[in-house]
Amino acid sequence: MRYRPPAHDPMHDTEPLLSVDDLVVSYDTDDGPLRALDGVSLRVAKGQRVGLVGESGCGKSTVALSVLRLLPSPGARVLRGAIRFDGQDLLTLPERSMRAVRGRRVSMVFQEPMTSLNPVCTIGAQVTEALTIHHRLSRREARARAAEMLDRVGLPNARRQLDAWPHQLSGGMRQRVMIAIALICNPELLIADEPTTALDVTTQAQILELLGHLQQQLGMAALLITHDLAVLAEFAQTVLVMYAGQVVEQAPVDLLFSAPAHPYSRALLESIPSCAAPRGSRLPAIPGRVPDLRSLPVGCRFQDRCPVVVEACRTGEIPLRPFGDGRSVRCILSPREAP
Ligand SMILES: Nc1ncnc2c1ncn2[C@@H]1O[C@H](COP(=O)(O)OP(=O)(O)OP(=O)(O)O)[C@@H](O)[C@H]1O
Ligand SMILES: [Mg+2]
Repeated sequence: MRYRPPAHDPMHDTEPLLSVDDLVVSYDTDDGPLRALDGVSLRVAKGQRVGLVGESGCGKSTVALSVLRLLPSPGARVLRGAIRFDGQDLLTLPERSMRAVRGRRVSMVFQEPMTSLNPVCTIGAQVTEALTIHHRLSRREARARAAEMLDRVGLPNARRQLDAWPHQLSGGMRQRVMIAIALICNPELLIADEPTTALDVTTQAQILELLGHLQQQLGMAALLITHDLAVLAEFAQTVLVMYAGQVVEQAPVDLLFSAPAHPYSRALLESIPSCAAPRGSRLPAIPGRVPDLRSLPVGCRFQDRCPVVVEACRTGEIPLRPFGDGRSVRCILSPREAP
């Protein structure tokens, strides 16, 4: 059956920059195929900031890798769905054209800046690489642009850092370099997959603030992936909550924080340290475990951890249903279904 977006969803009113529709991705494992994504759809409009949140293993990185067509091959298969970027079908685009999209129109920042940077190349060589590939600038011009970009991402003595090696920089500075590399070609979409997870709390906040500033200055769209819902409070306009390979709630950020509709979203929100909680108090962890993607229960995937589960949650597929207020929720107990 073809996926049809809900008719009244405001995110569908204009042609989005990126649209992922009904994506199903499977990995081959020793124990058989593992469906990492099962019918994932999302939209990112031009200049929009979208957040993707969920626990480890729910499929966030698989979404990002699918969009950039960087899924391991062999090893991963797209079984169904469509990915469109600015009108182009990314799943069928020839590899040559895909290379022009990757890095220039869609850029990515990964979690671990040390493994993403090449330890045997200088910072300057790595920041200028994309410029020389995509824009054919001379070395001199490329170095000038690189220094400007490093300055913009807040690297002190930017020009001198061009000749530095990755190991000479702190984790936070390396992540700034990764952001400079991602942004140097003025992408229309930045995908940041846990860009601050490896950093200490203060540096995390600085990097997120930097990403927010640059996103606005450059007018690019951003898809920020994180397991930490708190990270999205300041950054995202729309949030998609994923659980075990599916989107369980999609909502404008203020609604998600003020009135989360899915029990899993509520549990995620409750696990954020709040001003009310005394410092150092233990956060309520979400009880139970994420189900094994190879042997999922019938019905809702969150049923074994859900505090409000009823018998009907254990029968049949639970659809993602639109609410009247711009969000969609995958829960039969969500009361305010749109007419
Ligand atoms: N190359 C692979 N081969 C087999 N299984 C994989 C592979 N990559 C991911 N998976 C599995 O697919 C599921 C989704 O993984 P994914 O990395 O997309 O999750 P994630 O939400 O990004 O997790 P994390 O927060 O830990 O980064 C997990 O169950 C994971 O074990
Ligand atoms: Mg991941």
